[in-house]
Amino acid sequence: MLYELIYRSTAKPGLTEQDLEDILKTARDFNQANNLTGCLLYHGGQFLQLLEGDFQILLDLYDRIKRDSRHREFLLLHMKETDQRVYTDWTMAFKSLDQNQLGKYSSVTEFTELVTNEKESSMSKELFQAISAALVSG
Ligand SMILES: Cc1cc2nc3c(=O)[nH]c(=O)nc-3n(C[C@H](O)[C@H](O)[C@H](O)COP(=O)(O)O)c2cc1C
Repeated sequence: MLYELIYRSTAKPGLTEQDLEDILKTARDFNQANNLTGCLLYHGGQFLQLLEGDFQILLDLYDRIKRDSRHREFLLLHMKETDQRVYTDWTMAFKSLDQNQLGKYSSVTEFTELVTNEKESSMSKELFQAISAALVSG
């Protein structure tokens, strides 16, 4: 059964380009080997991540991700069964959005506006769908 998990977190102060590269390298290696796909967004010192794959693999990974000192203040927004991946071709897509860019894809202006209720959970999913469409069309 295919599941999707979306959480947000706050990056540690002083997170560097190198930190981001290291995160993506680890993520892509593990995800490739475990049939996981998804996308990591970075905006205003906040991460928003979508992960798609097997339920138990996702839960175990989310536990490890929460112990990672490169971010904190986690909020699980969405854990749902799905019949289709949004990021079929990406072991972990990445997009760093600058201050005004988020508005191009969503009515959300900060990831911290996303909280755990049905409406916001679908808003976060819609944001990932819009980003995915933009990645495909270049
Ligand atoms: C924002 C963020 C996103 C991450 N995403 C993934 C991911 O998709 N897949 C993955 O294997 N590790 C990811 N990691 C790395 C994990 O937190 C962790 O470093 C990795 O699973 C190795 O865990 P270990 O050191 O406990 O073995 C992410 C880390 C951060 C900070």
